[in-house]
Amino acid sequence: MSSTTDASTGRAQIAARTLRTDRWWLPPVANAAGLAAWVIYATVRAFMQDYYYVPEYGYLTPFYSPCVSTGCVPEASHFGQILPDVWWLPYAAISLPFLLLFRLTCYYYRKAYYRAFWLSPPACAVAEPHKRYTGETRFPLIMQNLHRYFFYIAGLITLINLYDAIEAFFKPGGGFGLGLGNIILLVNVVLLFAYTLSCHSCRSGVGGRINHFSKHPVRYKMWTFVTKLNTRHMQFAWATLVSLAVTDFYIMAVSAGWITDLRIVG
Ligand code: FES
Repeated sequence: MSSTTDASTGRAQIAARTLRTDRWWLPPVANAAGLAAWVIYATVRAFMQDYYYVPEYGYLTPFYSPCVSTGCVPEASHFGQILPDVWWLPYAAISLPFLLLFRLTCYYYRKAYYRAFWLSPPACAVAEPHKRYTGETRFPLIMQNLHRYFFYIAGLITLINLYDAIEAFFKPGGGFGLGLGNIILLVNVVLLFAYTLSCHSCRSGVGGRINHFSKHPVRYKMWTFVTKLNTRHMQFAWATLVSLAVTDFYIMAVSAGWITDLRIVG
């Protein structure tokens, strides 16, 4: 393998696309398959407008929360019904677009889908096929900077998911109830909080613009906590995709009568 140095850029001129000999293509391929599968499942479910609520136990899937369409069953509409019931509008159309934008602009997902779908670049030390690179300096990618605002909205929606999970412990007919569905809803909401709080925007929000941490001990503690979560942001990103799909599928299966909820109390 021969290489020379480009005098103008100081960079090595290497004819080969990459000198890597490991399976560098595996992560982008796996990410592309995983993300595409999830988006297809979520799209089908969001537009299905059925099997989203279990009336006996008050389980509401996060894909339909908050359920604000006039098509929602009244027991599932904890925050009113303000959207028309038309086939092309998901019942949770006031939250889903923001959750999508939150994830689409997420620093981790950007890395994942730039590599998986744009090959920009496909992996470290692997040349990308594009001739020009403008990064995120112009439209539309400059809009990625809106991420911090989607973070605030996603935080509010996660609180709604927490409300749904707590509400499900109190059966619509009255009395406390505990089933496998409650545990799945709770685990999902804990993971959603871990993902949301581990966001890079959250970390810079709690710890940014401070010159002396010693003068802000509370914010320092919060920043230390968020920083620890932040090191696991990629894991939380995937764990929440799995937990959201599992939660939704479980509630669909119980709602459709394919399985019965495993009851522990009530
Ligand atoms: Fe991933 Fe903010 S960086 S959610």
